Amino acid sequence: MLKVNNIDVYYDKVQALFGVSIEVHQNEVISIIGSNGAGKSTLMKTIMGLNNAKKGTIEFEGERIDTVKAHSIVGKGIVYVPEGREIFPDMSVIENLEMGAFSKNYTKEQMNQKMQEAYDLFPRLYERRNQLAGTMSGGEQQMLAISRGLMSDPKLIMFDEPSLGLAPVLVDEMFEAIVRINKEKKKTVIIVEQNAFMAISISDRCYVLRNGLVTMEGESKELLGNDEVNKSYLGG
Ligand SMILES: Nc1ncnc2c1ncn2[C@@H]1O[C@H](COP(=O)(O)OP(=O)(O)O)[C@@H](O)[C@H]1O
Ligand SMILES: [Mg+2]
Repeated sequence: MLKVNNIDVYYDKVQALFGVSIEVHQNEVISIIGSNGAGKSTLMKTIMGLNNAKKGTIEFEGERIDTVKAHSIVGKGIVYVPEGREIFPDMSVIENLEMGAFSKNYTKEQMNQKMQEAYDLFPRLYERRNQLAGTMSGGEQQMLAISRGLMSDPKLIMFDEPSLGLAPVLVDEMFEAIVRINKEKKKTVIIVEQNAFMAISISDRCYVLRNGLVTMEGESKELLGNDEVNKSYLGG
């Protein structure tokens, strides 16, 4: 479904990704783990068209997307739920959700149905639907960011550190929601995390990024038993 092939990405003269390749199949959950500064967000943003690859290609459903602008990439069925949420703080929950559907020409009925799906996934959002997003807790804002991403009915959804800064009970809720998004809503998922154990646990396959390089890849259950992964990322 998605093929990132040997990309190099730079910020000015500083190289952030070195020949990175990843492949994602339909309905998979892929985790990308790595410490702070490894290049995880850079990779997501490059897939999304927010950074340019100087070398290499990115294909989505057989079509090159590395030359396509970010807003048209949303139209092709990829969304990115960024690190730090980036919801619109001065808009209500409902207005934020509507913004997530900008690439679609939904009828009022379709819009209502997508909203209902968001409320089914996170009932808390329904209770707070008229509240300004900026006044909600971090966990609620994360729920909103995820739901906003789903409003355009993407085929592939990328989560950048969804558990960052959340209380443990909310971390579990967030990972459960991501599993439901994959299993019930049939979305292909890429999840980027420093919380490696959780991310590996819910994913089919995993890539390890280190200093802008893919240093390891494989079936998640195999990586969970790998000594180096254990030592570097799982505190084992
Ligand atoms: N906008 C930017 N300008 C310059 N350097 C950046 C920018 N964003 C990220 N970097 C650098 O690129 C590298 C990878 O960063 P990032 O992709 O954010 O890592 P991660 O998400 O894994 O923590 C880091 O060295 C970081 O300092
Ligand atoms: Mg990051």
